[in-house]
Amino acid sequence: PRLWLIIPAAGAGKRMNSARPKQYLSLRGSLILDLAIESMSDCFASDNTALAGCIVAISVDDPWWCDTRASQNDRVTSVTGGQERADSVLAALDALDGQAGPDDWVLVHDAARPCLHPDDLNRLLTELKDHQVGGLLAAPVTDTLKKTAAGGQDVLETVDRSQLWRALTPQMFRFGILRCALKSALAAGLPVTDEASAVEQAGYFPCIVEGRPDNIKITVPADLALADFVLSRF
Ligand code: CTP
Ligand code: MG
Repeated sequence: PRLWLIIPAAGAGKRMNSARPKQYLSLRGSLILDLAIESMSDCFASDNTALAGCIVAISVDDPWWCDTRASQNDRVTSVTGGQERADSVLAALDALDGQAGPDDWVLVHDAARPCLHPDDLNRLLTELKDHQVGGLLAAPVTDTLKKTAAGGQDVLETVDRSQLWRALTPQMFRFGILRCALKSALAAGLPVTDEASAVEQAGYFPCIVEGRPDNIKITVPADLALADFVLSRF
């Protein structure tokens, strides 16, 4: 099977509250979107014949995309994303229709995740190589978890964290399964915050591959300093 990359980069970055969407902010001299794509560069290695292409979902009238290194790469194409992250990923999957086979692999990696370590990417690719469905990088939960009523402050219980994981990206699924699962989940109005949740709702069991907790998603301003530090240690 061949391998395709999808980078959802059509978000507005509301929680970041910056002048431009966070994926176009500069970090260590590069745009965050470029760092995120280049963190997947093992898939771009010229000797990797499996890599078929990369699709970046951007918002309509995005004036920043043309300033990225990625937009100059002839193996990278852009499509218009959608209202929610899942809509953007589905738009990219739709663009692959007719090119990708049902058993081809699709790797989805957030444009806002510049700190993916190459070891994690390689472990994901190796461990899922023969899997029928696919899976995701995830990190064990380390804090003690409390449950309240929605919006409440009274602690109702402490949740056992031994079976809980924080979902990260990249997430890696068979093209046919992922496209079908995302379509049905969105049509049913189910909440889809990552690829795995759609695949789960379709009745499959995504495989968890343990990843580094420092593969953070830039979400709020303080994450920029954190990401700078993480990258300084790679
Ligand atoms: N994303 C996307 N299309 C959307 C929404 C999000 O492609 N309609 C992308 C973002 O660009 C980001 C990734 O999905 O790379 C993760 O989403 P998130 O961190 O929530 O980014 P934003 O939606 O941009 O931020 P916020 O929720 O704070 O507005
Ligand atoms: Mg969002």
